[in-house]
Amino acid sequence: MAEADTEYSYVTGSEAKIFVEGVLVGNGVLPANAAIVADCLVQADLRGVDTHGMNRIPSYMARVTQGVLDAKAIPELKKLTPVVGQVDGKNGFGFLAAHQGMECAIEMAKEFGIGMVSIKHSNHFGMSAWVVQQAIDAGMMSLVFTNSSPALPVWGGQSKLMGVSPIACGAPSGKERPFILDMAPSVAARGKIYKAQRRGEKIPLDWALNADGKPTDDPSEALKGVMLPMGGPKGSALAVMMDVFSGVLSGSAFAGHVTNPYDPSKPADVGHFLIAIKPDLFMDLEEFKERMDYLYQRVVGSDKAAGVDRIYFPGEIEQLRQEERMVTGIPLVEAEIKALNLEAEKVGSRPIVVSRKD
Ligand SMILES: NC(=O)c1ccc[n+]([C@@H]2O[C@H](COP(=O)([O-])OP(=O)(O)OC[C@H]3O[C@@H](n4cnc5c(N)ncnc54)[C@H](O)[C@@H]3O)[C@@H](O)[C@H]2O)c1
Repeated sequence: MAEADTEYSYVTGSEAKIFVEGVLVGNGVLPANAAIVADCLVQADLRGVDTHGMNRIPSYMARVTQGVLDAKAIPELKKLTPVVGQVDGKNGFGFLAAHQGMECAIEMAKEFGIGMVSIKHSNHFGMSAWVVQQAIDAGMMSLVFTNSSPALPVWGGQSKLMGVSPIACGAPSGKERPFILDMAPSVAARGKIYKAQRRGEKIPLDWALNADGKPTDDPSEALKGVMLPMGGPKGSALAVMMDVFSGVLSGSAFAGHVTNPYDPSKPADVGHFLIAIKPDLFMDLEEFKERMDYLYQRVVGSDKAAGVDRIYFPGEIEQLRQEERMVTGIPLVEAEIKALNLEAEKVGSRPIVVSRKD
């Protein structure tokens, strides 16, 4: 395996967005839609979820040029009842379908207390937390589910069948940080293995099995094998749950039929499921916020186990990382910069502007 590449250059969030928008527009995405996709991807980079940020651009653009993701698609929204919406992603970017879906769920929740949107014929939408953040920015609680391509065997199984489909949810607070849970049902997200592969790093032995069913620390071998569920049968059951709500219910692919993002043979046909909830349904908003703040304080103020310096609220580590990266910029290794600039070169858009800190 190659030596780990740990020399970083840094790009600011605003420069990263300009760069990503340029590549997207160069590939036929409408400027307004390119701005949404770029914002979602760069939010992931800023939050330290580099596995689901702008480094996904080469694989997304490969799907566009292979004709299995429609860069020009505009999702179609139908209201089925006052609190239920349906989005047909039209095989466009998952970011656009989910953004429109959450926007609709929020509007319904403002009026009726709750809004539920099912999304079909979509694609990978990256880090689920950006959808949760969209709801939090509107003062809403949310549930954000998606399915994804097979990566995980069901408990007791040998071959990959379910996706490592993240379960995410959130709630606004008062003066403390909001609650944002965003987790794959595997020990680690598969994107962490792709990232280790890009960076020439090893992975922990409990993340995945190789093609022979043996633990491996080599990301390339892990990608030929299967991911391991977190918590044994419970992680496997959560992956099935994501498929019930996002796949079976929506009319999109399910039961192992979502296409792998690196398989150019057909559209991914991913499904999502979104709910927005108005937090002041059962008490006034101030009381809800005070109760959230109290919960935050109880959690982070809990007595610490030996060797623990600080206890974090779900989502807090990523929020702190975002504050840090707003100042330092987003770190990229040389191989990542090269891969990104190759995409800019292909469509004649502006290369990424980075600076070296050391
Ligand atoms: N779209 C897809 O198909 C897809 C598939 C898999 C993963 N993903 C994305 O990959 C990302 C990473 O997923 P993951 O499961 O590896 O996340 P993770 O394990 O890094 O974090 C999971 C959750 O645990 C919390 N957490 C982590 N460490 C903590 C600590 N020390 N104290 C308190 N809370 C802590 C985080 O805030 C987060 O809410 C997510 O954004 C997910 O949406 C997307």
